[in-house]
Amino acid sequence: MKILVTGGAGYIGSHTCVELLERGYEITVVDDLSNSNKKAIERVKQITGKDFTFHEVNICDKAKLDEAFEVEKPDAVIHFAGLKAVGESVEKPVEYYDNNIGGTLNLIRSMREHGVFNIIFSSSATVYGDPAEIPISENCPKGMCTNPYGWTKWMIEQILTDTAKADERWKVILLRYFNPIGAHESGLIGEDPKGIPNNLVPYIAQVAVGRREALGVFGNDYDTPDGTCIRDYIHVCDLARGHVLALDHINKMTGSDVFNLGSGRGYSVMEVFHAFEKACGKTLKFEYKPRRAGDIPVCYCDPAKAKKVLGFETQFDINRMCADSWNWQSKNPYGYNECEQ
Ligand code: NAD
Ligand code: UFG
Repeated sequence: MKILVTGGAGYIGSHTCVELLERGYEITVVDDLSNSNKKAIERVKQITGKDFTFHEVNICDKAKLDEAFEVEKPDAVIHFAGLKAVGESVEKPVEYYDNNIGGTLNLIRSMREHGVFNIIFSSSATVYGDPAEIPISENCPKGMCTNPYGWTKWMIEQILTDTAKADERWKVILLRYFNPIGAHESGLIGEDPKGIPNNLVPYIAQVAVGRREALGVFGNDYDTPDGTCIRDYIHVCDLARGHVLALDHINKMTGSDVFNLGSGRGYSVMEVFHAFEKACGKTLKFEYKPRRAGDIPVCYCDPAKAKKVLGFETQFDINRMCADSWNWQSKNPYGYNECEQ
């Protein structure tokens, strides 16, 4: 099977490309490099010893996207391409709706015109809003999102579900990721945020490598054991494996289906901070800051459905996740760049 991976140069996409190649899939990557670096593509080739084609294409450009489909003739699509910065989406809602929803509509049209009807989509736990139940199962109703980024995921899920309902040729799997962290054990690929990191582990990693002074812990007055927020962290390589299992499943199913991809275990901000200190062997600085707008206190999944249907279980614990994040960051202090951009 040949898989067209949109956003394959990005953090989760590049790890999934490694997993796909190692499992014997053929791949091709479509990415406009708006939030990634071409070096990631070279490093995926270096890790796997396999070659594949790369199309530097914005999925909003239908003509160029069509060209990629014509040349590559894929059997399925894994769709990672999208903008993902929560705060930026509040500042630039039109750009987010345009890129994420407009891009996905283009992709659906292009797929249909080229006879490709299998798609796996990167959704997010953010679609649960302030969740009605913890742990969060897939039956938990979708909630109100607090930002345009979240709404794009919410709406794309609906668009893809409706598409599968209207035409039985379509098979759609929505994967709701919890909090991906970590990096490939080689330290050759990893998360490389542009500017000041929004997410917890990339921020801690930059403190550990000396690029930032101290972690700001957003709120220590939540109703949790240590007062800081709890999240379900998942190693990006476990997450990547989840996509391959979803691909195995897509051939056996009809219509659309949805799975949580998380470990089912929650860790607080301070637990992650201390696990990272252990991983890097240093004492790091932190300071308590006010709560961040839109954060929910506790978020972790019920992973039972992914286990039962896909045979998916996470393998890596929080210590390994932090060790691999540190391995990547210490070998690549400025990510794919040589110095601070
Ligand atoms: P990322 O930014 O590293 O990867 C996304 C990739 O898509 C980038 O390489 C970017 O250049 C590309 N891209 C963006 N818009 C594009 C366009 N119009 N055309 C072509 N390429 C485009 O992000 P990631 O963390 O790897 O996330 C991958 C997907 O998973 C995203 O859809 C994201 O919303 C979703 N997701 C991520 C998280 C997380 O915490 N990282 C959580 C839940 C869901
Ligand atoms: N945090 C800090 N300091 C920081 C960064 C984060 O204390 O510098 C805290 C946050 O307040 C939160 C926890 O660390 O309590 C995790 O924050 P992240 O930003 O790493 O992750 P979120 O759970 O907020 O967001 C993630 C993804 C989003 C997605 C959301 C819900 O980044 O894309 O999960 O699925 F929408």
